Amino acid sequence: MLAKIELLEKPAEIHDEMRIKLEPNILSGNDVLSVRGLSKSFGSNRLFSHVDIDIKRGERVALIGNNGTGKTTILKLINGLLTPDRGSCSLGTQVQIGYYDQEHHVLHMEKTIFDEISDDYPELTNTKIRNMLAAFLFTGDDVFKRIGDLSGGERGRVSLAKLMLVQD
Ligand SMILES: Nc1ncnc2c1ncn2[C@@H]1O[C@H](COP(=O)(O)OP(=O)(O)OP(=O)(O)O)[C@@H](O)[C@H]1O
Ligand SMILES: [Mg+2]
Repeated sequence: MLAKIELLEKPAEIHDEMRIKLEPNILSGNDVLSVRGLSKSFGSNRLFSHVDIDIKRGERVALIGNNGTGKTTILKLINGLLTPDRGSCSLGTQVQIGYYDQEHHVLHMEKTIFDEISDDYPELTNTKIRNMLAAFLFTGDDVFKRIGDLSGGERGRVSLAKLMLVQD
């Protein structure tokens, strides 16, 4: 029985903190997002109606609500992934969206962390990828773990690492 079990090394505990600075590549205009009269229902499930939002450059905004109230739906409408029943969302000049997907759709379960990055960015050197992953606390052999074997939080860190590369 024991012979059939693949032995894994005891995971080392990580006490490090991630030190990441997200700096925009391009400065946007003062107006970042303008939402007017936004309404959305799924069948008879009316999530929200007549929503207005204004976000200006430099503001930090949180969207807070109970599960199933429509937060992700609002983000998908802003990203153009869903069509509103009424109203509109418009981005200011030079605004680029970085969308960190709650469901981590961008990851491939069968790939290793390293391949997840290098397959999308073949121009990056091994050293660059390793340094970048180290900033997200994946060091040594960690980078050869399969995405499918990672915890939710670890997958979140890989998604963030990929998101950071998007606009480079
Ligand atoms: N494509 C869809 N078709 C039908 N109903 C949907 C669809 N997408 C979302 N819903 C429903 O709309 C409601 C809002 O979903 P949404 O994902 O926006 O919630 P949320 O506020 O992000 O929740 P959570 O806090 O769990 O992430 C839920 O009841 C969900 O089941
Ligand atoms: Mg959600």
